[in-house]
Order: sequence, then structure tokens, then C-alpha cells
Amino acid sequence: MLTYTTYSEAGGVGKSTLAANLADAHAQQGRDVLAIDLDPQQGSLTYLLGITTPREDGDADNLARHLIDRPKDEFSALIHDTPYGFDVIPSHNMLERLPSLLTKAEEMATDMGESFEPNTRLRDVLADAGIPAEYDTIIIDPPATVGPHLYNAVAATRSLVLPVEPTGKGMQSIEGIEDVVTNLSEKLGFDVGVLAVVPNGIGKTSNQEQYLGQIRELGYNAPVALRDRSSLFEGCWDQRCTAFHYAGYHRSRRRDYEVETLDKLRDLATHIQEAGDQ
Ligand SMILES: Nc1ncnc2c1ncn2[C@@H]1O[C@H](COP(=O)(O)OP(=O)(O)O)[C@@H](O)[C@H]1O
Ligand SMILES: [Mg+2]
Repeated sequence: MLTYTTYSEAGGVGKSTLAANLADAHAQQGRDVLAIDLDPQQGSLTYLLGITTPREDGDADNLARHLIDRPKDEFSALIHDTPYGFDVIPSHNMLERLPSLLTKAEEMATDMGESFEPNTRLRDVLADAGIPAEYDTIIIDPPATVGPHLYNAVAATRSLVLPVEPTGKGMQSIEGIEDVVTNLSEKLGFDVGVLAVVPNGIGKTSNQEQYLGQIRELGYNAPVALRDRSSLFEGCWDQRCTAFHYAGYHRSRRRDYEVETLDKLRDLATHIQEAGDQ
């Protein structure tokens, strides 16, 4: 079983891009992959993958309802398939209110003398729905804020894959990873693992080996660095698809530098499998 959360303290560093493309890469390698979008923002994994669900319809069943024990349907009905060989549980606007919904559900449970653990709801709901028996790979894409979304993602996956911005500021944030991991471990009561740290968006003139070296010196697994590929990744958002699909179906000719990026994403998926499979 391979389970991880894509996380960075800042937004826009590549969490959703990594989640979508690693899900595709794992599926290409024959794995049964479920990607879960916990980010209520519009420009999330759900949008990127072109999944259209009634995300503003509060009556429609959605993941937030299951997390507070108010489902409208079977859990399996939340799961969408994609043309990329992996499945997705999409986001919903109700996830914006997840922190207060969980607090209310906890209060209600306490009044009723029942137990309710707000940070392990996702883990429990997935287990009850038999998801770990159906999938061997689960990737969760939470928002960048620290709070119940992140806690639920990490409690359900127990490990992280971290994109970092290859800038002075981004590199400084690597020094902070230890604190992020320690805080999450203390909050959740188990050791959180880091499967990979991925410098993402490296400029033409920058030395990617230098970034990788710096990260490895701090003791993290840093298998690849991804170069700045704006046209490829912007194309993905325009066409709402993974980078593998975009390069394969929306490009009239093969671009070697894009093939290199796709190879690196596959390579990253393999390394993550080796580090995280248990
Ligand atoms: N290697 C890259 N090169 C160029 N643009 C990238 C790269 N990785 C991600 N992006 C772009 O950066 C933006 C933010 O990425 P996204 O995955 O949405 O970040 P997050 O989920 O962390 O907020 C998107 O427009 C995406 O296309
Ligand atoms: Mg995102």
C-alpha cells in the first residue's frame, strides 16, 4: 500500500500538478490509484482533471458529508473514473466549511456520549468503505493551510511528497520541513514520513543538481528536479488533463524537453513507490 499527501506550506508550488501527474504515472505502472481532492478552491485537482460535479449544490452528496456522518449515498458513488486509468474523489464547496462542520459534529457526538475524532475521519471513512482493499495507491491533495483538511489527509496517508520552489525562499522552506513534520507527528500521534522532496519549476540557467544536493544533505529523498515547463503545464490547465495526456494528444509534434519531464515524473513515481510501499 502506497499512500501520501502532496503538501507545501505555500500555495502554487505544484501540489495539484504533482498529484495529477504522479497518479497518472503510478497508473501507467499498473497500480490501482485513487486521488482525493480535499482542496475546496476552484483551481484544484478536480478542475485540472476535467471532472464536472455539482460542487456548489449542498444537497448533492460529497466527501464533506461523509466526513461528518451525514452521507446522502454510498461512499463508492463519490468515486469518478478518469480517462487516465486512475480514479478520483472530487472536491466540493462544502469542504470550505469542513473545520466548523467537524467541530459541530464533534460537539453533537460528545452530547450523545459517542466518540468522534475530527482528524481521523477520512482515515475511518476510507477504511469503512473498504478503499484500502480496492486500491493500492492513495494520493491526497489538500489545501496549503494547516488545519483539519491537512490533518485528515496526513492521518489517512501518514506520509508526504513535498514540492518546493527552487528559489532562495523555497530552499529556506526546506529547513522548515523538519518542523512541519514534527508538528504534524505530535498533533496526530504517529511518525509522519517524507517520501520525496521535489524542486519544481527550475529555470533554464539554474543548476538542478545544486538544489537536489542541498535537499539530500538535509537527509531527504530527492530523486528528481522538475524544470520550468510553463507551456506544458499551462496546456494541461487549458485542456484539463494530465501532462502525459497533453503531450500525447494535444501536441502536434514531440518535444524532447517535454518527454524528459514526463520521464522524470515516471521516475519520481518509481522512487516514491520504493520509498513508500508497505
Ligand atoms: N514545473 C513547472 N513548470 C511550470 N509551471 C508549473 C510547474 N509545475 C506547476 N506549474 C504551474 O504552477 C501553477 C501552480 O501549480 P499547482 O499544481 O496548481 O500548485 P498548488 O496545487 O501547489 O497550488 C499552475 O499554473 C501550474 O501549471
Ligand atoms: Mg492545488
